[in-house]
Amino acid sequence: MLSARRTSSSPAQACAPAHGARRLRRCLGGLGLLAWMLAAMPAPAWASEADVRAAQLVQRMPPEALHQLVQSYAMMGLKRQPPGSVGAAGYVSAQPAYGIPALQENDAGVGVNNYPIDVDARGWPIGVRGAAGAATPLPSPLGMAASWNPRLAYAGGAMIAGEARAQGINLLLAGGVNLAREPRNGRNFEYFGEDPLLAGSMAGAEVRGIQSQHVISTVKHFLLNAQETDRLALSADLGERAMRESDLFAFELAIEQGHPGAVMCGYNKVNGIYDCSNAHLLNDVLKRDWKYPGWVMTDWGADHGVSDALAGVDQVSGEDYADGAQGDGSFGAPLMRAIASHALPYARLQDMAQRVLRSMIANGLLDAAPAPKPLDALADAQVAQNVAAQTLVLLKNASGQLPLEAGVRHIALIGGHADVGVLSGGGSAQVWPIGGAAIKPEHPDLHDSASPWVVYDPSSPLQALRQRLPQTRIDYDDGRRPARAAALAKSADVAIVFATQWAAEGIDLPDLGLPEHQDALIEAVAAANPHTVVVLETGGAVRMPWLGKVAAVLEAWYPGARGGEAIADALSGAADPAGRLPTSFPQDESQLPRPRIGADDAVDYDIEGVAVGYKWFDRQRSTPLFAFGYGLSYTHFGYAHLQLAKQDGRVTARFEVSNDGDRAGVDTPQLYVDMPPESGEAPRRLAGFGKIALRPGERRTLSLSIDPRLFAVFDAATDRWRIGAGRYTVELGHSSRELVLHDDIALSAASLAP
Ligand code: BGC
Repeated sequence: MLSARRTSSSPAQACAPAHGARRLRRCLGGLGLLAWMLAAMPAPAWASEADVRAAQLVQRMPPEALHQLVQSYAMMGLKRQPPGSVGAAGYVSAQPAYGIPALQENDAGVGVNNYPIDVDARGWPIGVRGAAGAATPLPSPLGMAASWNPRLAYAGGAMIAGEARAQGINLLLAGGVNLAREPRNGRNFEYFGEDPLLAGSMAGAEVRGIQSQHVISTVKHFLLNAQETDRLALSADLGERAMRESDLFAFELAIEQGHPGAVMCGYNKVNGIYDCSNAHLLNDVLKRDWKYPGWVMTDWGADHGVSDALAGVDQVSGEDYADGAQGDGSFGAPLMRAIASHALPYARLQDMAQRVLRSMIANGLLDAAPAPKPLDALADAQVAQNVAAQTLVLLKNASGQLPLEAGVRHIALIGGHADVGVLSGGGSAQVWPIGGAAIKPEHPDLHDSASPWVVYDPSSPLQALRQRLPQTRIDYDDGRRPARAAALAKSADVAIVFATQWAAEGIDLPDLGLPEHQDALIEAVAAANPHTVVVLETGGAVRMPWLGKVAAVLEAWYPGARGGEAIADALSGAADPAGRLPTSFPQDESQLPRPRIGADDAVDYDIEGVAVGYKWFDRQRSTPLFAFGYGLSYTHFGYAHLQLAKQDGRVTARFEVSNDGDRAGVDTPQLYVDMPPESGEAPRRLAGFGKIALRPGERRTLSLSIDPRLFAVFDAATDRWRIGAGRYTVELGHSSRELVLHDDIALSAASLAP
């Protein structure tokens, strides 16, 4: 659109290479008349008010002012900080002459990350912004996805954005929506699971929540940053059709539903081309096909030269601060030289700046300055607890072992630092919690990944359980010595083992085993006490060689600021465990498309193609340990009267859900479309889900509308979604492997825009 503005050749010809910014401004001054004419033209019908305001602002701004918007400086306390920055992850300076505030960009996969900001004489971090911590960690996004409840993701997003704004932060690097293609990916805990509909809906809702507070959110990492090993160099190889129907579809849904102000391109390559140099992904798919109006920012250091601007990048992130000078990063002096030499059209710089400004305007950043205010820590913790309550997945409950009986006399609580806190994930999503970490991290040296921070949020399951079961004696053993723990377990009525698996950005998990001696610990305790319950605090799926020997298993992920309380509620029955798996749990690595995770130049994702997670298990006809969508409740639910109909051009499924047990509970009915075998697709796709709380005996009718793309395949040759004519079956069930009702409906052939 903007390239049309640069029709006059004379000012451009006057702009010889190697001329400085001032000269460039003079030589581009000839475009002023054109700008005025454009400003006088009526806005195109599609343009929102934000687009129009941004376009007008861009026309008033000289090249240096536009240029300031297209790179951010790295903060994190490790670099020199420009005046005005609050010390977050990235900073773009304010331009008061144009009413543009600074962008204060901060990580927020789980909550507001407080970067270490005080440094010692060597420049190494010794403190964090907000001293004792100033942020409330939510449960990890994978846990949030286990809630299958976008309303909770919205509430969580709004809460963390409120905390950000109170600290002067107006952009959150949240919305991680990479699919869990690789269960050993060290960042899966930051993402929303393996299915595009679930992940896209949850991320979209989180983004909407964040942006409801006048704080911009990203979605990241575009695209296929599905493992950390070799992430800066490896190529994620995947065919176009599979990519459109899976990893890209998750982003597409998150963007449609959340309208994030920015999209962050990742570190890796896709089909041999770096994410941030990938014109197909950025220009063709994101900006042309999806008509994305916001800006593309790079991940920190993921730029590969000024040509990234032609590929669709609008802003390079994390440059070294250059004392107000342009610096020699990709979009620093090299960008202005490229414009002067016409290697990069000036209109492209205008477009880049306009995209940044329209997202800032659309989210109210130019109209509502951040209002620093004290946090309401209690209210925020309550939000985290409400979310956590629906993230816990009860995987096994033999003979009704849980909930714990009120009259249980003696419980042995073992391991996982459950006396003081709950585990959190590491890396840029790490939150330094209000109240400080429950255990002082040893060697807090960010320069040394061998001594990472492992932070336990200060929410003690032991204390919370003692509160809920005041008549019960609860003894704690740290689990370091299995024999000692087993002796305690033997003396108790019930043993509860807390097992942990720490995961972090930058490091993949070597395998799906629980680290260290925890399997042996569980075996020893289970041998000593048949009433053994295992609570898992893990980044994602783990192997469970002891599963047959324990009575119950509760997956708690990284449960956040009030995780201990949420776990105690579920164990004691104060709350129904309402989570369902957002990712399949394999029996072991041999069931995966790639038994090993390797540091290779390329990863062949065409092995499974579109069949990510449960679709792979279905296609292979293999049985996972626990299926996608699975999770038990303390009550049981029935489904009846499934009926498909067409309504406003969409297929709608109506059905009745009943609580057939004698306790209140929360159900997650799931719809799956069976794809015709000739389509070449995996057997079934998640097509809709609900979340419903029911009293004992209560029944309600739900109506879910199915996105037409879930009946379609992507035709890469014509760049369209295509629905083949025929009858389609939709199944309703409790998980991807427990489908209880079905109905079918005839659809005519259709072709849908990408
Ligand atoms: C991560 C991003 C993060 C950025 C800024 C990168 O290493 O991949 O997710 O937003 O750092 O901290």
